[in-house]
Parts: sequence; C-alpha cells; structure tokens
Amino acid sequence: MKNTVATFQKMKENGEKISMLTCYDYSTAKLEEAAGINGILVGDSLGNVMLGLPDTLSVTMEDMITYGHAVARACHNTMVVIDMPFMSYQESVEQAVHNAGRLMKEGRANAVKLEGGASVCPQIKAITAAGIPVMGHIGLTPQSINAFGGNKVQGKNEERARELIEDAQKLEAAGAYAMVLECVPAKLAAIISKKVHIPTIGIGAGDGCDGQILVYQDMLGLFTDYTPKFVKRFATLGEQMTAAFKKYDEEVKAGTFPDEAHSFTIADDVLEKLY
Ligand code: KIV
Repeated sequence: MKNTVATFQKMKENGEKISMLTCYDYSTAKLEEAAGINGILVGDSLGNVMLGLPDTLSVTMEDMITYGHAVARACHNTMVVIDMPFMSYQESVEQAVHNAGRLMKEGRANAVKLEGGASVCPQIKAITAAGIPVMGHIGLTPQSINAFGGNKVQGKNEERARELIEDAQKLEAAGAYAMVLECVPAKLAAIISKKVHIPTIGIGAGDGCDGQILVYQDMLGLFTDYTPKFVKRFATLGEQMTAAFKKYDEEVKAGTFPDEAHSFTIADDVLEKLY
C-alpha cells in the first residue's frame, strides 16, 4: 500500500512512529522499500554524500530531478519527497510553485520539502494550493549554514525556542503536511510535536518526534568524512565494501578472476577456423 500524506497523518494520530531515510539512487531505494521504510527523502544532502561538496548550496534543480526520478522509479509503496534546492523557492512564490511543479512532473515526487519558518509560509500556501504536498524543515536548516555560522543546535535559548514553536505552528497553518525538525533539543522537539497536529520527523531531535530520518550513508557507515552526534551506525558497510574492493584488486592482479565460471565459451569448431 502506497504511503501517502494521509498515511503519515493517521500514523501520528495512532501514535505509530514514522520511519524515513534519505536516498538518491534506484538500487538503494529498492532496498529501503523492501525494508518497509515509510518515506524516502531525496535530500539536497546529495551535495555532500553523492557529490562530495562541502555544503548543499550548489545543488541544482537538475540534480534533484535526476536523482529524484531514479528513486521514484523504485518506489511503489514508499512516499518519495524531493528537496527543493537552495534558491529554487526563496526568490518568489511564482518561482517556488514553478520549481515544485518540476519536481512533481519531471522528478515524479509525491511531495516536496523546503527549508524555513514564517518567511517561506507564502510559498508553502501557494504550492499546497497547487495540489502539491509540502514538508517543512526547521531548526538547523543547512541551506542557511552561512547565516547560522556553522552546524549548530537550534532553540537552546528561550527566544529561539519560542521562535521555533511559532514557526512550526505557522508551517502547519500554511498547509504543510509534515515537518523535519533538525538539531533541536529533544525536550523542545517533543513540545513542538505535541503543539502541532501534523507529523514531525526528527533528525538530531530526540525521541519525542513523530518519526525519524537519517542520511542512509551515515547510518550504514558509508560516509565517514564527519559524523554528527545524532548519527547511529546500524552497519559498517564502508568497511565491508573496502574489503571487497581489496579482494577484487588482489584477484585481478593474481589472474584468478575471471575464472571459467565467470567467462563465456565458444564452440571448438568455430574456434579452430580462427587460428
Ligand atoms: O537533505 C537532507 O538530507 C535533509 C535531511 C537531513 C532531513 O534535509
């Protein structure tokens, strides 16, 4: 059964936790779907983990469409959310609706996600009015890394904590169907999750959120350039991959790969004519 905005809402109402992971390619999306993950985010974190960029700022609409469509092709049950990249929605409401439409038509998303609080509510209202579900994203919003001055936990003082609560309520009022809370103190995220009626999806925001999301390369141990405190390693696939690459390298150099089992044959009478 396809996970939809209605599924997410029902899960919150029933107190069932929502699982989300990022994904950027067809093969991995099939594995995430087979595992029963409720939602996949094609995050602009692809700038970091797929393209090796220092931040998400250079990610383009074309990147999001290419990676997003690859994921969407694999997902029959999993809800696919595609991130709106930096400066694809900030300029104007018209720009936001146009680009959200492209992510749906060309990327085959089921919903889009954009970062920000009160300032992006006009965009959320207009995109939602066009029939496109919008996931909000507050707390640490990586597209504003230069304004924040680094990857810092948000909402630690009273003023900023109140601002985050108000932003969450404004996102809900603007029509968002869910929101990511990133790098927010666990107890504040729990308060926000109780104050809004739509699901909150936490990353570094504790267990009081309605769901959780992680970058899949982080949780599998595939991306090790840096590891945020909130990342739990559920596997060490990076080590296993390096060991497999090493074994392949050794076998190629020793001439033991390919062997007969991995080679094609030709009939002897055909072969004789070639000498
Ligand atoms: O781009 C991304 O992967 C995200 C998650 C960290 C929520 O926005």
